[in-house]
This record gives sequence, structure tokens and C-alpha cells, in this order.
Amino acid sequence: MGVIEKDGKFYPDEEFKSKALINSYEKYQEMYKRSIEDPENFWREMSEELFWYKKPEKILDYNFDTQKGKVFHEWFKGGYTNVCYNALDRHLDNPTKNRVALLWQGEPDEDVKVFSYQMLHREVCRFANVLKKKGLKKGDRVCIYLPMIWELPVAMLACARLGIIHAIVFGGFSADALRDRIQESGSKLLITVDQTLRNGRKFDLKTNADDALKDCPLVTDCIVVQRTGSEIPWTEGRDTWWNDEINADDISNFCECEQMEAEDPLFILYTSGSTGKPKGQVHTTGGYMLYVYLTTKYIFDLQPESTFWCMADIGWITGHSYIVYGPLLNGTTSFMYEGTPLWPAPDRAWDLIERYEINVCYTAPTVIRALSRQGEEWPAKHPMKSLRVLGSVGEPINPDAWKWYHKNVGKENCPIVDTWWQTETGGILIAPLPGAWPTKPGSATFPFFGVVPRSADPGVDDPSKLGQKMPPGEAGHLCMEKPWPALSRTIYGDHQRWIDTYFTQFPGMYFTGDGVLVDEEGYHFLQGRVDDVINVSGHRIGTADVESALVMHDAVAEAAAAGMPHEIKGQGIYVFVTLKMGHEPSDDLRKELVSHVRKEIGAIASPDKLQFAPALPKTRSGKIMRRILRKIVENKVDELGDVSTLEDSAVIEELVKNRLG
Ligand code: PRX
Repeated sequence: MGVIEKDGKFYPDEEFKSKALINSYEKYQEMYKRSIEDPENFWREMSEELFWYKKPEKILDYNFDTQKGKVFHEWFKGGYTNVCYNALDRHLDNPTKNRVALLWQGEPDEDVKVFSYQMLHREVCRFANVLKKKGLKKGDRVCIYLPMIWELPVAMLACARLGIIHAIVFGGFSADALRDRIQESGSKLLITVDQTLRNGRKFDLKTNADDALKDCPLVTDCIVVQRTGSEIPWTEGRDTWWNDEINADDISNFCECEQMEAEDPLFILYTSGSTGKPKGQVHTTGGYMLYVYLTTKYIFDLQPESTFWCMADIGWITGHSYIVYGPLLNGTTSFMYEGTPLWPAPDRAWDLIERYEINVCYTAPTVIRALSRQGEEWPAKHPMKSLRVLGSVGEPINPDAWKWYHKNVGKENCPIVDTWWQTETGGILIAPLPGAWPTKPGSATFPFFGVVPRSADPGVDDPSKLGQKMPPGEAGHLCMEKPWPALSRTIYGDHQRWIDTYFTQFPGMYFTGDGVLVDEEGYHFLQGRVDDVINVSGHRIGTADVESALVMHDAVAEAAAAGMPHEIKGQGIYVFVTLKMGHEPSDDLRKELVSHVRKEIGAIASPDKLQFAPALPKTRSGKIMRRILRKIVENKVDELGDVSTLEDSAVIEELVKNRLG
């Protein structure tokens, strides 16, 4: 056993607790209290678990209040370190140098690659030397557009070693999305692949990269990994093969680490929002490093020799923090899988857990729902006795999915950690410590060290209450009262936008964009986004991105996107489109518009439903009333609320009548 159920709560049992790093609520409280009341000493002490060339002078300096001047936060100033050193070199003593760092399984069964810490160190040093040879240096940006192949973490760590800022673009993004991100980040070099494998099929990535690079004159070098060996287009003088570069005679096995100041950027990662272009979140060396190190250790209760499988794609923040940096900083084994969990058979994931004796499995509710649909017989074939902790991330987990995961995957033995966080937050902010307190299905429970969440009154009914704590049991907007080390520092190239996006709605606090309900016992239940961001299978899709892709099409006058409930994906994308004069609604045009969005952004942003509308509901000042569109899409027409500010309420009747069910 590992978990005991009592009155709807799930308690870690004595055996689990006996091995847990933090095994009581009191122990957590003691550390948590110190992290809030004495952050200086708490974080200094924590920082000493990692290696610094020079210890930090000042632990924290910040201002979250726009009234008091510039909003900023800085951590570990005056400290010098290197994330790659801490992730690799720190483990190069015996016996840990021969521990497995990265265990990579390709989609075809026979493609397996195992790197010990020593081997990964060597590979990373060699690739860092390649980047150096290309003339890249500290502060330069490199864009990485790769699928889940082992070269991806090697490239990231090589960048970190030299202080080069990586900007990873998810391999499912289109050429246009890639181009925007390369341009925004000012990257000088692109790393990509010939083709990617997915469900037994091959997809071109290099052709996308070529399309993107047409408009990226800054990029003078493109390093291409050979994954499938298919014929691909080639630009002499710009394109070179990964293997040729890394195996060149003048590339040595060692490369010195750059000594990085704690606040030097480590990477940029783009996220979508409800307005404007994607936001390049800037994460820094010291704070991000320490925070992902600690959250990985305590939330997944790492044991010596743990094998950790985070099923996310490294193209998203979850993969950055919990496939690459977190597990390696802890000296544990990170298992990385190229394929999808359903192919070639619905028990692929369970088979891999069994085969590699995975101890921690971290995935998303959408994956759990998709796997549960296949039937209990698939996990039933696999005892998965090695599993100790299960994790969930990306969207609210419905209690049914939670219980299915608990029963069929954890076999009722493994605590589930429902982890709430965001690209901006760098690491997990609210989650159970699995040996310390009981969980409740659907709740991310309590905050991690240093994190002070507040369920804040949005001030809609009574503006004077804006920001005040909501009473237990009533949903509010989730804010953070204080900084923690991994919160993004800025939006690349636009600090004012960072301030405007996160610090203006609730004075003095970071606003997450999510709703939350805190119950009588202080458990946090996340309610999904309260803004116009759509969460498709745990991926954040900005309504603005979908809409601007649609209006780029000749036939489209206006477009509005909203999230619709979807059984597997959590939310699907529903769009309303008004056409320009001379264009008529038709099924062909609908298909064309859907594929246009796929081309502009990528398959993940493909609208599930597209409704042609003669007009969109607007206020008298001409703003689209999204609140109303959301209610129509969710089929909550009786909750439309006050529509008196609408210019023409007949528009709504028309939309409701033609709603696609
Ligand atoms: O709405 C929340 C949801 O995902 C959003 C962040 O998306 P992204 O930046 O892409 O990062 C995803 C992985 C960290 C949040 O604003 N979200 C994430 N985790 C949870 C969640 N919603 C509920 N419960 C979670 N555990």
C-alpha cells in the first residue's frame, strides 16, 4: 500500500511517509513559515544545496506595486553560477558519474539511447564547442525547433553552458509561428531536424524551418539533426548536419562553463495570451535553477536513483523544467519518450513504465482522459509496481480522471500530485507534498515554499473589494502576493507589457489569469482561465493568435474565438467568423479557414467548430463582447446576463439559433 482513502481524502500511508522527504504537515509548515517570514535566510540556505562560483550577496529585492515605481524582482544578486554545471558537472564524481542521466526511447522500439552523467556531459561539451566555433557567445540567442529527440536536451544544456539564451519552439508550430519567434528573439542560429516521427508517420520539419528562415536574415547558420534520413531541401553555406559538426576533428570533449550572474537570462519561452503577439517569457539563471531543483525534489519526493518520466514535450515549459532542468539538477534519471502514449497500442505508456521501472509519472489530464477511453483492460495488463508518485499538470483535473488515474495507473498505491503553475511561473507553485498531507481529487492543495497565493475578489460587484481575500468556498481570481525565485523577469524586449499584463489588475500582486476556490480547509481548487485564453489539451492557445490568423484570410472581416467544453481536450476552439462583402458561407470555405489557421499557427490551434455569423455582438464603443460569446459556446444561454450595453441584441438571437452543437 501507499495511500489510504478516508472520507473522500487520500492519505499517504506510514510506509510512504517513512521514506518521504517531508512527511508531515507540521514539518512543511515550519519550512513554509520560514520561507515567508525570513525569505533571505530560507533561500540562502536552499541555494547552498547547489554550486556557486561566487555566493550571492543579496537574496531578494523587489517591488510589485506599480504605485511605488518600476515593478521588478531580482534574486541572488552578486552570485555567479552555471545551470549546466549544476545539472551535469556537479554529478561527475564517482559513483554518480555513471548514473543514468538521460534515458531516451525513440518511437520505434529499437531506438534507445542511454546517457550516463559522464556521457551526457561529454556530448554537451562537444556541442557547446560547436556553438562556440560558430561564433556564438554569452547573451546571444539560439532558436531550437526540434521534436522529442535526445539532441534537444543536449542543445539546451550546451546553450546554458555558454550563457547562450535558448528559445525553443514547439515542433508542432507552423513555419509562420516559428518565423515570428525567431525574429522576436533575434536568434542567430537555428537547430532543427530533417523530419519528425509521429504515430509511425514522418513529417517534414526542415521544410517548415526553410520557410521560416526566408524572412530571418539574422540567422546565418542552421544545424540539422538527421532523424529519418529522408531527402530534404538544403541551403549550402547555411545548413550543416549535427553529426558532421559534433564529430569534427577540431571539436574537443571539454568545454569550460561560462560563469553566469544569477540574473543573467537562461532562456526565452513564448506563451500566448488574449491580446497581442506571443509573449517571450524570460527566465534567469539563479532563481529558475534553484526553484525547479527544489520543486522537483520535494513535490515528486525524489528518492535516490528515481527514474522520472514527464510526458510533456520539451517545447513547453513543463518539459523545460521537469524533463531537463529539474531532474538533472537533482542527479536523477530523466526518461524521455519520442512518441505518443497511444501508439502503436493503447498500453504503450504502461508498457514503458513497466519496462524501465519508472518511479514518477507526470502527465496531463487530457492524456489521462484519452487513455481512460481505451478501457481499463490496458493498464490492467501492467502491474507497474515501480510507480511511487503520479503527477498531473496543464489544466484542472476532473475528479473522474483523477480517480481513474489513481485506480488504474497508481493501483491505489501512489499519491497524485496535481501541480498548478504556468510558463510565467517557471516551476510549480501549488501542489501536494505527497508524504505530508492528504489530497482531495481536483485540488492542487497548498502552496510551495515562498509562494503566497490569494483568491482575490475581482471587484465586479463592489469595486472597493478589489483584491480582497474571497471567503472560503467562493471562487476568486488567483493572485500571488510575493515573488518567488522562478517567476519570469520580463517579456523579452517589452518590460512594460510584462507589468501591464500581470501587475495592473490587482494592485501589488501578480495576477495569474486563473480562477481559484479555496475551501474551508485551505485546499486550492483551480477553476481554469478567467480571461480569453483557451486551454486545449493543456496547451495555451491565445484567442488573439487564432483571431489574427483568421482575419489574415481574404474572405474574413472579423473573427472571435472562445473555448468550448471538450471531452478529451478539456477545451476545444470555437470560432465565429463574419465574412467580407462578396463572400458567402459554405462548407468549403469553412474547411479552408480551418486549414488556414493550422497553417498559420499549427495543428494545435485548429478550430474545432467554425460558425459563420452576419455580425458579432459589440458594445456601443465597438468592443466584441466575449463574455457573451463564451456563454453561447458553453450553451449557457440563460446566463447571458446584462446585454443592455449591446449595440444590437438581435445579433445574439442569430448566433444562438445557429450555434453548432
Ligand atoms: O490555466 C492554468 C492551466 O494552464 C495555464 C498555464 O499554461 P501554460 O503556461 O501553458 O503552462 C502549462 C504547464 C504549467 C494556467 O494558467 N493549468 C496548469 N496547471 C494546472 C492548470 N489548471 C488547473 N490545474 C492545474 N494543475
